[in-house]
Amino acid sequence: MAEPETMNQLNPAPFYLDCDTGIDDALALAYLIATPRANLVGIGTVSGNVSAAAGARNTLDLLKFAGHPDIPVAIGAHDPQNGVFRGGAPHVHGDNGIGGVDLIRSQHQPVQGSAPELLVQLAREYAGELRIVAIGPLTNIAEALRMEPKLPELIAEITVMGGAALAPGNITPVAEANFANDPEAAADVMAADWNMTLVPLDVTMTSVLEESHRQELLASPHPVSRALGEMLGHYFGFYVEIFGRPCAAMHDPLAAAIAVRGVEPALAPTIRVEVDTTSGPGRGQTVCDMRGLYVGYPDQRGARCRVVLSIAEEFPPHLLSTLQADRF
Ligand code: BDR
Ligand code: CA
Repeated sequence: MAEPETMNQLNPAPFYLDCDTGIDDALALAYLIATPRANLVGIGTVSGNVSAAAGARNTLDLLKFAGHPDIPVAIGAHDPQNGVFRGGAPHVHGDNGIGGVDLIRSQHQPVQGSAPELLVQLAREYAGELRIVAIGPLTNIAEALRMEPKLPELIAEITVMGGAALAPGNITPVAEANFANDPEAAADVMAADWNMTLVPLDVTMTSVLEESHRQELLASPHPVSRALGEMLGHYFGFYVEIFGRPCAAMHDPLAAAIAVRGVEPALAPTIRVEVDTTSGPGRGQTVCDMRGLYVGYPDQRGARCRVVLSIAEEFPPHLLSTLQADRF
């Protein structure tokens, strides 16, 4: 699955990031800028942790801070497919979405046109090469599919952070936040016929930064790493109730690292995945066909999604070394 390291780093693939910037989104964005394995050519924002407009502002400010102010950022969907945006998750990500950290305002503005329009434009420009990393609700990606039904053929791969295969949900007992925020869009994206990798809570809840890692970031000579360490202070506070100690799950950075082949999955069966769009207690659940669990996941008819259940190495050392490699 992995390309030879030198080839990947000398000739990084073009990436489109769809995000709801958010603290772990900010870490994923910094990772995608810092890694030599990705060429970030466009970013779309969607309402989730914060509104799509606030997410774009955070993204532009982070890009300026990290020395890449010219990467185009487009504002995407404010509301989910069926319903209205309910105000985000300030208790998790802070009122401004990045843990209350004040970044210097970028003078750059979002580009004209919506995030789905930017995605479709880039997919045509980099036909067969563009890779999507989707780390927010899937509203923009589903809209892009409606605008360009051939999108799956134009895209080399899509990596989605979301869902839960065997792990519990984090918004309801069974639903993960990105899928719960727009189950209809998630269902559309999971049903499309593309080269797709899902990075669910099963693997992100075991990829955790500890306080010692945060202290490492705070002591970094790189201002971007130090700001990320500060943001994590807020995120760690939220996770105390969940893990019983200050630490945080690295949902979005892990999806980004898997997408660029910075970390390799250890177990990632290709299985059928559907999303519950009913209005009962299952709403937003990823119904993953895990029945092959006891016999090594034999081929499943109609399966198209690779679901990452574990990774081959510990994630924090890779994340920290990438964020501190003098690439900002
Ligand atoms: C996902 O939800 C958001 O709060 C995070 O940024 C991540 O994308 C985890 O469930
Ligand atoms: Ca996110």
